[in-house]
Amino acid sequence: MSLKVVTIDGPAASGKSSVSRELAKSMGWKWVSTGAFYRGLAYVAQVSGADLSNESELSELALSDCWGVILSEERTKVFFDNKEVTDNIYKEEVGSAASQLSLYPKVRESLLAAQRACANDKSWLVAEGRDCGTVVFPEASLKIYLTARSEARAQRRAAEEGISVEETAKAQAERDHQDTTRKASPLQVPEQAHVIDTSTLDLNQVVEKVKSLIFSGFKK
Ligand code: DC
Repeated sequence: MSLKVVTIDGPAASGKSSVSRELAKSMGWKWVSTGAFYRGLAYVAQVSGADLSNESELSELALSDCWGVILSEERTKVFFDNKEVTDNIYKEEVGSAASQLSLYPKVRESLLAAQRACANDKSWLVAEGRDCGTVVFPEASLKIYLTARSEARAQRRAAEEGISVEETAKAQAERDHQDTTRKASPLQVPEQAHVIDTSTLDLNQVVEKVKSLIFSGFKK
């Protein structure tokens, strides 16, 4: 049976977060960024001095209750030691560390239950990430894959963070390579996914495209 979940996967800065947030708001649904779990763990690992190359240590830390994720309309929030640390996790350097630790199968496995717990049979959820349609929610009702030209993605992220386009493009290319070539749950287009290229579309146009798929009854 299909879950009450719409998944939106895609590479860094393809527009996943903005599209998911706006879609969820306009439908009155919940939204989760699964990247926040990887970013949250990367941040917690960095500040607690964990070894980013030690899979067992990281997967234990992933299950620790010293940190956690809470859904909200505007952002998927991360708490560490009872303090909100969400502002710290969206830097490109935390993204790179997140990508690094997301290579480990045990770490991915440890984060899976908490990600799946965001869905229930009462309310609809928009779940966004790299493997939402393939691994986290293979039974989702609708699967979307967003893509965009690499220059467009670097320009978007650089403008958001006020940093150089060149450096952002380089960091994103490395992260894309790591995310698509890893053995465990690599970024890929899920079977039955609707692929949308966002390079020349604005946020509203992408959200409208996804809504029209929803209203057309989730058919592919
Ligand atoms: O979507 P994001 O940029 O916030 O994700 C940060 C990193 O986390 C990404 O480079 C790889 C990892 N990630 C993942 O492996 N699987 C997911 N479902 C989401 C993110």
